[in-house]
Amino acid sequence: MSDATPQTRAVEVSDASMVFNPGTPGEVAALDHVDLTVEPGDFVSLIGPSGCGKSTLLRVIANLLEPTDGSVLVNGKSAHQARIDQDYGMAFQQSGLFEWRTVTKNIELPLELKGWDKKRRQERVREMLDLVKLPDRGEHMPWELSGGQQQRIAIARALAAHPPLLLMDEPFGALDEMTREHMQSELLQICAATGTTVVFVTHSIPEAVYLSDRVVVMSAGPGRITEIVSVDLGRDRDEDTREDDTFYKKITEVREALRGSEMSAEARGIEDR
Ligand SMILES: Nc1ncnc2c1ncn2[C@@H]1O[C@H](COP(=O)(O)OP(=O)(O)OP(=O)(O)O)[C@@H](O)[C@H]1O
Ligand SMILES: [Mg+2]
Repeated sequence: MSDATPQTRAVEVSDASMVFNPGTPGEVAALDHVDLTVEPGDFVSLIGPSGCGKSTLLRVIANLLEPTDGSVLVNGKSAHQARIDQDYGMAFQQSGLFEWRTVTKNIELPLELKGWDKKRRQERVREMLDLVKLPDRGEHMPWELSGGQQQRIAIARALAAHPPLLLMDEPFGALDEMTREHMQSELLQICAATGTTVVFVTHSIPEAVYLSDRVVVMSAGPGRITEIVSVDLGRDRDEDTREDDTFYKKITEVREALRGSEMSAEARGIEDR
């Protein structure tokens, strides 16, 4: 360990548990004593079987849910304070754009909330539209764009206020394979250009490996982190990376970790009976 003063961590989840509907027949233990640390500039993916608590963990980090137990720090503050300070942007599987606002008005929304004046907002929107390579679509309505374009606008909106942290829940889930790969490369470029930290939920092993510095493998019943796979593919990833031997090796490693996590969840199920 180095003697240098540690940087403030982007995310620090300590011993967090989440039980929905406690004490009722509908009780669900969605997270069980989860610890997760994300350093500034890290790209971390959460992967695991459906229902294992990935979205719950993301929502706990975003302070959309209060954990039953444990603590969550974002940028060294309580998750609640980080939400008030708009320290993070969010993007989900559905773009979540407001249908009655133009593309420009959608991207401007977080900036309006931050009290930016009109000129500054307009400049920022132009910058963001360039970044997601849709410079001419500002006056369009969301429904005039393709699904992939809407996703890019949602990412532009999430990044507009320059949040140090981006929380993404299967943002490319609905896209075709080629658009999805293109979006992944764009996201990496955006992160490299802005130094943004990302916590990213996905069901796709290649997507997790391509994007991440670390892949966090979770198991269900109740949701736990079973393994963290470091992806040493360097930062300069491009289309050739997808043909790289290390890329395939890491895909296998994550797949095996997922298999192991499913087996341990089954074993826990047998123990519980
Ligand atoms: N608001 C809620 N009330 C009750 N139970 C909930 C609630 N939200 C989630 N759960 C339960 O918590 C567990 C974890 O759900 P979560 O949405 O985090 O899973 P996930 O890993 O994101 O799954 P998927 O990959 O299908 O999106 C599930 O069993 C789910 O039914
Ligand atoms: Mg989910």
